[in-house]
Amino acid sequence: MDFKKQILITGGAGFIGSHLVRLFVNKYPDYHIVNLDKLTYAGNLENITDIENNKNYTFVKGCITDQQFINSLFEKYDFDGVIHLAAESHVDRSITNPLEFIEANIVGTVNLLNAAKNNWGDFKNKLFYHVSTDEVYGSLGDTGFFVETTAYDPRSPYSASKASSDHLVRAYFHTYGLPIVISNCSNNYGPNQFPEKLIPLVINNIKHNKPLPIYGDGKYTRDWLWVVDHAEAIDLIFHKGKKGETYNIGGNNERKNIELVETLCDTVDEQLGREVGSSRKLIEFVKDRPGHDRRYAIDATKLKNELGWEPTIQPEEGLKRTAEWYLANEKWLENVTSGAYQKYYDEQYA
Ligand code: NAD
Ligand code: DAU
Repeated sequence: MDFKKQILITGGAGFIGSHLVRLFVNKYPDYHIVNLDKLTYAGNLENITDIENNKNYTFVKGCITDQQFINSLFEKYDFDGVIHLAAESHVDRSITNPLEFIEANIVGTVNLLNAAKNNWGDFKNKLFYHVSTDEVYGSLGDTGFFVETTAYDPRSPYSASKASSDHLVRAYFHTYGLPIVISNCSNNYGPNQFPEKLIPLVINNIKHNKPLPIYGDGKYTRDWLWVVDHAEAIDLIFHKGKKGETYNIGGNNERKNIELVETLCDTVDEQLGREVGSSRKLIEFVKDRPGHDRRYAIDATKLKNELGWEPTIQPEEGLKRTAEWYLANEKWLENVTSGAYQKYYDEQYA
């Protein structure tokens, strides 16, 4: 079958990547979507079983740190675009094992950049889209917002590795003329997020009457965005964004962690038919995360003014849907935390 475009999406078995792959496979039947993922603990093909047999979809298991393998993939497929999400993504893990983040997030990105640079001829109609985070900008006080020109000031090994990869992507644009675009997004929430991250962890613990760990004083603030809204922003930027540019993506939905967790307690109580508010007694203030960024807040005006993007799902609705999904998908939680689906995949396809 002749496809209009071939797109490589990396990290498509993870949380955000799975929503993006689903969006592209369904919305663009004339594109061939190649999903490259190592299937780490965070990557699960169970996230995308609904599209795995589509004719315009191919899954490739592999690691972005393997330059030879990445080169062979670019030789096999004539990619028109790359949307790069594969990364180690959890801040707490980066504190205990920084090197893993340097390898996946920095070396992995450079391998993809080199493969694109060396295989893409004159770069005409090509695009390397790098998906990044608001954490590169550092930490805000009580006021203010991150804009695209805010100076980088990463504080954790995770954010430092993402900042480094952003710089390298821009360096390939300026040095070699590789057509690139970068987006920096705030905290995503929704189905398929590995239950080490705050929202799925808390929902699962409420269900099982386990303690809800709140780092420090709980007044740390994050800006939360419904994950499908992020996927739609990426689609828009991929197709209409200006080459060489950066776009901030945010939910305009700031919450202090303690407020968010209290809302989740009440939402889950209601959905489980418990007395609303009764789960708040599970909240426990625990030792703070080292170097914990106090507040993130995104100004996404550029994306709104230039490309017309705005979040569509309001937080109350999004949190309700998220709680419903995790409560209804106990088996998914069991499978991803036990690695059961990956074992199944390896037995079937290895
Ligand atoms: P995730 O941890 O859920 O998924 C990451 C995926 O990358 C997994 O499927 C994993 O198997 C794959 N992967 C990891 N190392 C790999 C390697 N060496 N080779 C190939 N595949 C590998 O992460 P996520 O939350 O979906 O984040 C995706 C991207 O978006 C990341 O680049 C992250 O920095 C960025 N981001 C995340 C958020 C958020 O709130 N989660 C916000 C802004 C930006
Ligand atoms: O801002 C975007 C970033 O959001 C992404 O780049 C990262 O990949 C993603 O993991 C996320 O990072 P955070 O560190 O903000 O997410 P996390 O869910 O780990 O934590 C959210 C907040 O909750 C943060 O202030 C730490 C706090 N926290 C987290 C956990 C896991 C707790 O208080 N208790 C917890 O048990």
